[in-house]
Amino acid sequence: MVEEPYFYLMEHEGEKDRLEKKTDPLALRKQAEWCGIKPGQHLLDLGCGPGKTTAILYDLIQPGGSILGLDASPERIAYAKKCYGGKAGMEFAVHDIRRPLNGFGKFDAIWVRFVLEYYRRESREIIQNAADNLHRGGFLYLLDLDYNCLSHHELPLPLAKIVPEIIHRLEDLYNFDAYAGRKLYAHLFDLGFENIEINVTAHHVIYGEIRDVDSYNWTKKIEVIAPRLADLFETYPGGYQGFFMDFRKFFHDPRRFTYTPLIMGKGMRPYAD
Ligand SMILES: C[S@@+](CC[C@H](N)C(=O)[O-])C[C@H]1O[C@@H](n2cnc3c(N)ncnc32)[C@H](O)[C@@H]1O
Repeated sequence: MVEEPYFYLMEHEGEKDRLEKKTDPLALRKQAEWCGIKPGQHLLDLGCGPGKTTAILYDLIQPGGSILGLDASPERIAYAKKCYGGKAGMEFAVHDIRRPLNGFGKFDAIWVRFVLEYYRRESREIIQNAADNLHRGGFLYLLDLDYNCLSHHELPLPLAKIVPEIIHRLEDLYNFDAYAGRKLYAHLFDLGFENIEINVTAHHVIYGEIRDVDSYNWTKKIEVIAPRLADLFETYPGGYQGFFMDFRKFFHDPRRFTYTPLIMGKGMRPYAD
């Protein structure tokens, strides 16, 4: 059982706003469609953030469906209840999903999007806890990024050197997993799940003029994460400010190309062990 206190790399005052703003309902609906989410399901949204994903999934399981959103952040769950709660069949609760999901009952399907990337060490426990709460014949849907934050062209030399160093430091010290996406198939396989399917698409494909939402999201990521890595910037030309300005210049240049693969996996809990 996991004993370490809950730690979320992107935790900061404005995290609910960042998640609200960056969640694209159209993309989410397409992902849910690929997964096979359908009316009538009893669904669990693990690491639901401020509830926007839960609310979109709720609409897709009507009529007759119900959904529970769990997140370890009391602030985001309070916001989810206020903004999206109050509908029959939509519930939210605070829970650390590294711990067993006792008392929440069994589900027809469990959805885990953009959470495992924060748990290089405990992703197994999280997935096992989810599997234990699935009905036999129920589906686990895992969605996460690969080469997370690592695929940019054409980074100037100092940036090309420091970006992988930043990511590897986050992996070592802060449990981040830049390669969570490629591990999803093995998770489902090792659980002995059946009818496994995998889909690879792109989450970000950024070229040409920058969109406000991408500028905001990537700037926020840097602002929240950089203070945790202050010493890394000591040898960067101009220190942290130099890094920030260089990245901003690169990212706002319409010649830049940035992409992030999204890997989706689904599998069925067998009817018998
Ligand atoms: C990047 S957000 C993803 C939100 C949502 N799933 C989505 O697709 O937009 C990650 C969320 O996972 C939550 N989280 C991180 N660690 C958690 C844990 N141990 N237990 C429950 N929630 C956790 C965070 O609080 C945050 O709201």
